[in-house]
Amino acid sequence: MSKSSNRFIVAVANQKGGVGKSTTTINMGAALAGMGERVLIIDADPQANATSGLGVNRQSVAVTTYDLILGQGDVEDGIEPTSVKDLFIIASSIDLAAAEIELVARMSREHLLAKALSAMETPFDAIFIDCPPSLGLITVNALTAAQEVLIPIQTEYYALEGLTQLLRSIEAIQSHLNPQLHIEGAVLTMYDGRTTLAAEVSSQVRDHFGETTYDTVIPRTVRLAEAPSFGEPIESFDRNSKGAVAYRALAKEWRKRHGRST
Ligand SMILES: Nc1ncnc2c1ncn2[C@@H]1O[C@H](COP(=O)(O)OP(=O)(O)OP(=O)(O)O)[C@@H](O)[C@H]1O
Ligand SMILES: [Mg+2]
Repeated sequence: MSKSSNRFIVAVANQKGGVGKSTTTINMGAALAGMGERVLIIDADPQANATSGLGVNRQSVAVTTYDLILGQGDVEDGIEPTSVKDLFIIASSIDLAAAEIELVARMSREHLLAKALSAMETPFDAIFIDCPPSLGLITVNALTAAQEVLIPIQTEYYALEGLTQLLRSIEAIQSHLNPQLHIEGAVLTMYDGRTTLAAEVSSQVRDHFGETTYDTVIPRTVRLAEAPSFGEPIESFDRNSKGAVAYRALAKEWRKRHGRST
């Protein structure tokens, strides 16, 4: 298959910390894999939450996202299987934290991840990049490599605070680095339907993002928070839980938006 089959590169981004980026990346990836899509997750966060959350030991990984960004090593050697069939990951390592600084002096420093991924021959139906909680060069590399941005938004006070900065960065990248980039969706996470706050935040987000807001909201549930410490996505950890049902619904909506039958 040709390299062009890797068209659906999605950056999961929000520079606010702890809003559900990694949880969404892992569980949506696993849900899509369960629906027959071949999915690759790229862990672009030095915290490596997606890597550990999928039970991959970063010590045993030959080529990491850091290597790809720094142009060392073959992208194919970085593709690691996970415990989920059809779900793969390129792992993060702690040295990715240094990449922010090491990149500053590089030529075309914003395009390094895009370049590494365009050399990838293994075809995937979707690639999700789990971004770190910052708008630094790693996130810029992810947004330059992607066609789509998925923005998880925690359902809480000040949910929209800081989003202006993210939207401005996306616009700047659209005009200078990657004209194809667009906001594919906003998804409400850690939603507690019993509170009036949840309804308020939800309507604010819908006002702001309109149609791109996913109908599916991800509930706040302990099972979703527990699964990563077992190195498993919710789909295999507790497939009948509310969180698993929600991420399957989100994956289904994503597929529908991309014209893939469910
Ligand atoms: N729907 C949920 N219900 C309960 N806990 C959740 C839910 N989603 C995420 N969490 C928990 O909240 C914390 C933050 O989630 P997560 O790591 O996905 O956010 P993040 O945006 O990737 O964070 P960071 O910015 O640090 O990368 C984690 O401990 C996670 O297990
Ligand atoms: Mg994270």
